[in-house]
Amino acid sequence: MLDMERIPKHVAIVMDGNGRWADKRLLPKMAGHNAGMKAMKEIVKCADQFGVKYLTVYAFSTENWKRSVEEVSGIFKLIVVYVDSELKELNENNVNVSVLGDYSMLPAESVERLDRAIETTKDNTGLRFNIALNYGGRDEIRRSVTAIAHEVKAGTLKPEEITEETIAANLWTGKRHADIPDPDLVIRTSGEKRLSNYLLWQSAYSEFVITDTLWPDFGPEKFKDCIEEFQSRKRRFGGR
Ligand code: IPE
Ligand code: IPE
Ligand code: MG
Repeated sequence: MLDMERIPKHVAIVMDGNGRWADKRLLPKMAGHNAGMKAMKEIVKCADQFGVKYLTVYAFSTENWKRSVEEVSGIFKLIVVYVDSELKELNENNVNVSVLGDYSMLPAESVERLDRAIETTKDNTGLRFNIALNYGGRDEIRRSVTAIAHEVKAGTLKPEEITEETIAANLWTGKRHADIPDPDLVIRTSGEKRLSNYLLWQSAYSEFVITDTLWPDFGPEKFKDCIEEFQSRKRRFGGR
């Protein structure tokens, strides 16, 4: 049974297994990504119903550019399809969309849809839905260091004034960008037991739940199981 009093505030998901889902069905990879997008639609609704305040999904990593041009452009095209079909409902449900990552180098129509989704929902006060796109944990730490180095060079910040908060503030999740808390729960589907460059800084004390379910098969029931698993954990943050 879900304890509605102890719902994780921020859930981050590595949506993995679309390719294997398609392979099992002898379908092209894009069929897997398409099914994955449908699973994502459901999980956004479900997170909202469970009372999750922040949902962050890993949609495209800085390493995913290594894939074929067809697959990469297919994934970016799905962003257009997603926004066109879902923005109205997201907005009606008071969902606030943001992107973690530099999406400016995506195709113009994908950038336009993302800008539109962010702009349309910017004053919404419900679920914060963050899409990690062209996102890499190391890349964002590198960007934060660069931003801090510029401040030091300009003389507006002293090296000894740099704190963990300074570094965190300049990450995509930080005060200067999306301004969201660290994830309480990180879920990875498809059984892989690695972070793959996801939220490296932010997940320092997150609970990890790994499920063998492939992302397109991940539905509300599985999501509930993951939250129950989270609720069975004892978080200590280094204390007793
Ligand atoms: C995750 O599914 C989606 C993205 C990385 C965009 P994959 O495409 O990685 O699926 P598998 O790991 O090949 O099964
Ligand atoms: C992580 O999955 C990235 C996304 C889900 C967007 P990958 O499939 O790219 O990760 P690896 O290659 O298995 O580590
Ligand atoms: Mg994968």
